Amino acid sequence: MSRILVTRHLPFEALDRLKAEHDVDVWEHPEPPTPEQLRERAANADGLLTMLTERVDDALLDAAPHLKAVANMAVGTDNIDLEATAARGIAVGNTPGVLTDTTADLAFALLLAVARRLPQGAAEVREGAWGPWQPAHGLGADVAGATLGIVGWGRIGQAMARRGEGFGMEAIHSSRSSGLPLPELLGRADFVSLHTPLTPATRHLIDAPALALMKPTAFLINTARGGVVDQAALRDALMAGRIAGAGLDVTDPEPLPADDPLLDAPNLLVVPHIGSATVRTRERMAAMAADNLLAALAGRPMPHPVT
Ligand code: DGY
Repeated sequence: MSRILVTRHLPFEALDRLKAEHDVDVWEHPEPPTPEQLRERAANADGLLTMLTERVDDALLDAAPHLKAVANMAVGTDNIDLEATAARGIAVGNTPGVLTDTTADLAFALLLAVARRLPQGAAEVREGAWGPWQPAHGLGADVAGATLGIVGWGRIGQAMARRGEGFGMEAIHSSRSSGLPLPELLGRADFVSLHTPLTPATRHLIDAPALALMKPTAFLINTARGGVVDQAALRDALMAGRIAGAGLDVTDPEPLPADDPLLDAPNLLVVPHIGSATVRTRERMAAMAADNLLAALAGRPMPHPVT
């Protein structure tokens, strides 16, 4: 029997499977553990089931000398120092595939919402400001016939392209290995949707010069990671009307404080990192993370290793 630390309340059957085989400690607080709390709780752990909020770095690994495996309940692994885990021979797994459609759905929902001004319309109704029908009231942007620029051409980016094509859009993309150069995409797209992992190379990929290349009528959608966008530059661009709007599922930091200056910007819709948040997808993510951990602790390769 191994010792497992699960870093968040996990109301899924996957937890029972872990408990059936191992000694499982669950961090039950709604707030994530601080780095100090995580180091303390992980001190005797053989395996960790982590969320994207936990930093797995040298300091944690030094404090957890028995650790053999880390199963991240996310497809993104930017919270894990993969060089540090590799140097110690610690297996790392993630949850690719099961959240592809769910996340692309949310990205497309943000696109439609900002294009058709849903937040503004909903606010008018609630505030009693719904006036008589007017020919030029509530006008948004057309989606059919527009160009959808996808940055990052992995599973989720390709699923977003399929959605755009289904709505009559022309999908173009830019990635490290295929598609258009990013500046060309930014200049052509009516909607720019980000689907790239956060790495040193993609941090602030969308900065002030990149935003300046976008059309003033274009919208930015981000369901990837907040750090891919320079948020101060995005705020400036929205305030100055240099782009038409933005829909964000991810910010830097998360949670975004309610008094963050970004939230003063117009034509902005922010939702709280819910890209993968459906019952079935979260169940499947938890199951994959458990499968990874059970395999590694039994001395087998993880079925979904991070490569
Ligand atoms: C992931 O899995 O990386 C997502 O951001 C979770 O929603």
